Amino acid sequence: MKTGLRAPLIAGNWKMHGALAESHALVEAVRDGAASMSARVLLCPPSVYLTSVAGWLQGSRIALGAQDLSEQTGSGAFTGEISGRMLKDAGCEYVIVGHSERRALFGDTDARVAAKFLAAQFAGLVPILCVGETLEQREQGRTQAVVSGQVQAVLDAAGVDALEQAVIAYEPVWAIGTGLTASPVQAQEVHAMIRAMVAALNDTIASGLTVLYGGSVKGGNAGELLAMDDIDGGLIGGASLKADEFLAICGAASI
Ligand code: 13P
Repeated sequence: MKTGLRAPLIAGNWKMHGALAESHALVEAVRDGAASMSARVLLCPPSVYLTSVAGWLQGSRIALGAQDLSEQTGSGAFTGEISGRMLKDAGCEYVIVGHSERRALFGDTDARVAAKFLAAQFAGLVPILCVGETLEQREQGRTQAVVSGQVQAVLDAAGVDALEQAVIAYEPVWAIGTGLTASPVQAQEVHAMIRAMVAALNDTIASGLTVLYGGSVKGGNAGELLAMDDIDGGLIGGASLKADEFLAICGAASI
């Protein structure tokens, strides 16, 4: 079992799901069920629910995160945007940046993702940097090139020291919401490559870096993924919307 800086972290990314009443019930169930578990647990609800979820989580060990933020660090005429400072005010400790859905659907380029990463840290938030290849890229044998390029864009902008206060999530696009999961060996291969890339710049930061796996993680496959040397937890989509399934994953990370 990994301990210390790399104690398992299970993060639920609710995406654009739920309504207030069902979110409340989900938070209560997760909070009660996770109370006796050792894994670090994090919930990332839609931004409009952050303040409510923060209230429901009070007194628990569960952390709060957002799903995205503006790359703007100040305030200004940016209709619809939410700054890192606002997320911090709402009780967030973490924020996801560069999720593949934002990259594919909302124009988040490597450069914008790097700017969001910097904006998160500027506000005192821990960015969870998502990286991952599409099925086509994997079939072309470009997985390592794509993932290392996505990590490098952030290293170029922020420097390796910034990874001391960050999390990386490897989420193969072909495994997200599809029921297909990377095998533990496939995932480990990419996680090890990410850690080696960071280790080439700073060994200490690399060995303390939490690298999550995401893509169709469920109670039934979490244990074998978490058993791999370089997999330090999970970023959970669909299964984070069902308390019993999410708690089964948290339980697998708490052994
Ligand atoms: P699923 O767990 O639904 O595959 O989603 C993974 C994900 O995108 C988490 O950010």
